[in-house]
Amino acid sequence: MSTALVTGATSGIGLAFARELAERGNDLVIVARRRAKLENVSDELRARHSINVEILAADLSKRAQLRRVADRVADRERPIDLLVNNAGFGTSRSFLKGELADEEAMFDVLCRAVLVLSHAGALSMKDRGRGAIVNVSSVAGFIPMGTYGAAKGWTLAFTETLAHELAGSGVSATVLCPGFTRTEMHVHPDGESTKLPKVMWLEPDRLVRDCLDDVKAGKVISVPGAQYKLIAGVAEVAPRGLVRALSRGAASIRRRQS
Ligand SMILES: NC(=O)c1ccc[n+]([C@@H]2O[C@H](COP(=O)([O-])OP(=O)(O)OC[C@H]3O[C@@H](n4cnc5c(N)ncnc54)[C@H](OP(=O)(O)O)[C@@H]3O)[C@@H](O)[C@H]2O)c1
Repeated sequence: MSTALVTGATSGIGLAFARELAERGNDLVIVARRRAKLENVSDELRARHSINVEILAADLSKRAQLRRVADRVADRERPIDLLVNNAGFGTSRSFLKGELADEEAMFDVLCRAVLVLSHAGALSMKDRGRGAIVNVSSVAGFIPMGTYGAAKGWTLAFTETLAHELAGSGVSATVLCPGFTRTEMHVHPDGESTKLPKVMWLEPDRLVRDCLDDVKAGKVISVPGAQYKLIAGVAEVAPRGLVRALSRGAASIRRRQS
């Protein structure tokens, strides 16, 4: 039996990963800040699938807590076969108008935690000659879209580099780049959800199944949904100046609407 460690497993895409991996018979280590929610997820998955579920309550923006999770990932007595670096959140405020501390916390979770946990995971998996790492980026990583997009762009480039370094070792690295996905991320404090045409929404369960198929097929970049494959493909080949101009236009429409 394999063991998967999923960060951000209390809601949204991370919860969908935990449920799908449990359904496939994997034992789990689930990580997030909210211990009570982690316990609910653990109770649900143990009861449904008779698997082992270990809980690690940790705030990945805090160095000491991140270290604890990295130590668990590196533990050779209890190996992790699949590492899913999914935890994250976004700030939609302007970089210059927002708080630097919020930006730093986002950077720490979206980039530093992914770096540290990938390092721990890749080294121990490489020694065993097998394993897989999934880093959750975003389609925003292909486009200049604020500091969130910049962090996701880092995750994309970092995972491609990691995949390159791991080639031939039996260990794979895949970067998942979803577009708008129905999760808690899009529910505002007033209970309203982000308004978008239906065609732009992805469902977490389907996205996770597609991503695990891409991991099995050895793909380095996994972009779920035909609409987002098109956007990512265009952003990769279009002149950078045009991509910047379109992104600036979309940002000013969003500002006028909010
Ligand atoms: N939804 C989308 O449209 C979308 C699109 C592209 C990419 N993504 C990416 O997908 C990933 C998952 O997002 P989601 O949409 O599923 O959002 P979500 O439903 O809000 O889930 C975020 C998860 O991350 C955990 N988390 C947040 N901050 C954390 C911290 N400091 N330390 C540890 N865990 C933390 C949360 O758990 P606790 O609150 O319990 O800590 C929660 O389990 C993120 O990396 C996000 O950037 C989302």
